[in-house]
Amino acid sequence: MKIVMLGAPGAGKGTQAKMIAAKYEVPHISTGDIFRANIKNGTELGRKAKEYMDQGLLVPDELTVDLVIDRLSQEDCKKGYILDGFPRTIPQAEALDAALAKRGEKMDYAIDVDVPDENIVNRMSGRRACTGCGATYHIVHNPSGKGDVCEVCGEVLVLRDDDKPETVQKRLTVYHDQTQPLIDYYTTQGILKAVDGTQDMNDVFTAITKILEA
Ligand code: AP5
Ligand code: MG
Ligand code: ZN
Repeated sequence: MKIVMLGAPGAGKGTQAKMIAAKYEVPHISTGDIFRANIKNGTELGRKAKEYMDQGLLVPDELTVDLVIDRLSQEDCKKGYILDGFPRTIPQAEALDAALAKRGEKMDYAIDVDVPDENIVNRMSGRRACTGCGATYHIVHNPSGKGDVCEVCGEVLVLRDDDKPETVQKRLTVYHDQTQPLIDYYTTQGILKAVDGTQDMNDVFTAITKILEA
């Protein structure tokens, strides 16, 4: 099962990807999480990525594509994976398809979690991310049972640097310009499935499982 999650920043890609990964026992691969781990560990990649991320811009394809293609060749990806936040540009999607084709493989589903821009800024300002394990909460919709620390690992929860309202606006503009064209790209391939991402997160998940089990 090879799945691409599409959707605006804050649509709930990560939330749903984690639930799908747990249910179907395939790895959840988030380029955003990989970059944030590199920033936290002070790597050269993290330093470069942060310059773009803090402005709400995309990290250049040169820093992103090989990283993901390498990850997909690891042992745990043999029975499938969920890509969250990649591809994000047409060149990234083409590079992914080319790498898959070399192995005689192809993507099975592109799931678009559809949420209008009006709902996004509000969602992002309530998001809290774990600095330890990357778990995601929302102060209203999905609070941690342990207040301002993570239920899973006990580390402190923070507002992401790029979740300030001005930066969220920029990320939305970048999404519409550079990432939304992927909806047509995967529609043409016949694998696009859209779900209403404004529903309760468990209802979104039910809609996704229906697609995957149809
Ligand atoms: P990334 O980390 O991928 O951020 P994003 O796409 O902007 O998406 P988010 O993680 O903000 O949102 P999400 O859809 O995962 O929503 P979530 O589940 O958390 O990328 C960050 C940056 O890295 C980019 O801006 C770019 O610079 C760089 N980057 C990453 N990949 C790249 C690539 N391939 N190429 C170039 N650059 C790249 O949910 C959001 C909130 O809403 C949470 O608080 C959640 O609890 C809540 N929520 C979720 N679902 C619901 C629901 N149904 N109802 C109510 N609340 C909900
Ligand atoms: Mg995410
Ligand atoms: Zn944690």
